[in-house]
Amino acid sequence: MEKLVFATNNKHKTQEVLALLNNKFKICTLEEIGFREEIPEEAATLEENARQKAYFIYKKYGLNCFADDTGLEIEALGGAPGVYSARYAGEEKDSNANIEKVLSQLNGEKNRKAAFRTFIILILDGKEYVFEGKVTGTILQETKGVSGFGYDPVFVPDGYNETFAEMPLDLKNKISHRGLAIKKLVTFLNKKYNE
Ligand code: IMP
Repeated sequence: MEKLVFATNNKHKTQEVLALLNNKFKICTLEEIGFREEIPEEAATLEENARQKAYFIYKKYGLNCFADDTGLEIEALGGAPGVYSARYAGEEKDSNANIEKVLSQLNGEKNRKAAFRTFIILILDGKEYVFEGKVTGTILQETKGVSGFGYDPVFVPDGYNETFAEMPLDLKNKISHRGLAIKKLVTFLNKKYNE
């Protein structure tokens, strides 16, 4: 079984990834390798942030690993909150406050179009691979649903009538930005290890 570190401390994300990986790989969390700090995330783009996190762990531990970075891009806000999605309303990274800020900025705005984008950078035996997932949708006027995390209660993906926070997790995983990026990563790994 191939061992890979998923460079995140987010339990929701780890669960999402594990649900998609079909036990084919042994995924180690940062906690499992004894890393309990925050990885620096200072880049100006999602892709660069994911790269910074993956190389940070790769250089420190010499382990194959992947890291992701996600942002919500709202068209009427010029792509914000984007790379600042987690701390949009402040360093406390409070999801409710972030949602409130977005909703107040969109108050009276007719264009509610938005997209979640995820970049995954995989460092495998010193080589770098990039995977991207994107899901487009709409920002509601108010929150709906209680599952998921982050901006889930205000985001309705195109083609659906419910928010990510109203959907069962397996449906969200199937269609989400991160789900799509993870699927690309898994397809790549399966192909690579079946060669
Ligand atoms: P991260 O890079 O995956 O940690 O994501 C940064 C921020 O984007 C999170 O703190 C959330 O606010 C938001 N976010 C990421 N993924 C999701 C998701 O699947 N649903 C809702 N919000 C998300």
